[in-house]
Amino acid sequence: MDFRKKTIRDVDWEGKIALVRVDYNVPIKNGEIEDDMRIRESLPTINYLIEHGAKRIVLISHLGRPDGQVKEEFSLAPVANRLARIMTGKVITFVKSFEADCEKDMDGIVKGGIVMFENLRFYPEEEANSEEFAKKIIEKTHADVFVQDGFAVIHRAHASTDAIARQLPSVAGLLVEKEVTNLEGAIANPEHPVLLIIGGAKVEDKQPMIDRFLPIADKIAVGGKIAAAGYQSYDEKIYVSEDFVENDEGAKLDIGEKGAEHIISMINEAKTVIWNGTMGMTEEAEFSAGSRKIAEAMGHLEGAKTIVGGGDTAGYVESLMHEDPSLKFSLVSTGGGASLELLCGKQLPGLEVLENR
Ligand code: 3PG
Repeated sequence: MDFRKKTIRDVDWEGKIALVRVDYNVPIKNGEIEDDMRIRESLPTINYLIEHGAKRIVLISHLGRPDGQVKEEFSLAPVANRLARIMTGKVITFVKSFEADCEKDMDGIVKGGIVMFENLRFYPEEEANSEEFAKKIIEKTHADVFVQDGFAVIHRAHASTDAIARQLPSVAGLLVEKEVTNLEGAIANPEHPVLLIIGGAKVEDKQPMIDRFLPIADKIAVGGKIAAAGYQSYDEKIYVSEDFVENDEGAKLDIGEKGAEHIISMINEAKTVIWNGTMGMTEEAEFSAGSRKIAEAMGHLEGAKTIVGGGDTAGYVESLMHEDPSLKFSLVSTGGGASLELLCGKQLPGLEVLENR
């Protein structure tokens, strides 16, 4: 499916400063990054810009929800260190604020150098989508072109996803292109049979997706806490897992063998599989078998498009891929809320604002 927005491939980067919105909102515990998927997934865009002559790449992101205040536990400094390590020792110039003489920090950066600014959400103006804050960021960074590559935050209308894009030529990065093309393609032009697998805990989050896919999908499988809580099928296309693995107190914490086998048989017949929401409590090994089986069946399915929606499901699948590199998916989305909103048919402000082809 063709991507309807301009991308970094449509820009002559020679000598230009790229202002790149990434989503480096990664889980950090005791200063240690627990999952760096979002950092690694930003590399194709950064490398493209370097290889195509950009003078400088300025990365901006948020981390967590510090509510417009400077809170050290939400600093992006560990992320800058991890990026430097992944890019085998490339120097990342970390700039702590957009205030006063921050431009001095960027003096002497060589061609193709990378700058990363501290957490945008240390400023209340970011979430308020302030035009003035956007202007300040553009002035301080001397940006020529804005690149939106933070797919996971593209459903927000914030200064760094909306206001900046209204003040500069603005294009999509390669991650945004990959995510949107795969996810929109699964709705607009999927190869049949199409299977939607829904799990997770909150039925109110997932019902809009079931509604959206009912006319598109050939089959829909429901597992996870939603099924355990008694979700009822109301269409012959919808299968709800009937058996569960319980803990000593009788809480249903994973789908049972029968449900898993049935969903696997549906996967094996499909040409497009979209999975959103784990089948059980994957944090506990004894309640992760259902999700593991689904991931393995999808990850070994040949000749089909396999999409894993973001959030907990993507995190779990990523951890399995580390253990077993033979697992392959068309897309493991970096966006939780963003992929859900896109699949539910909502418009994403950070995408719509980019220049059309
Ligand atoms: C996410 O992790 O889903 C994104 O980074 C967006 O974060 P937010 O929900 O705090 O806006």
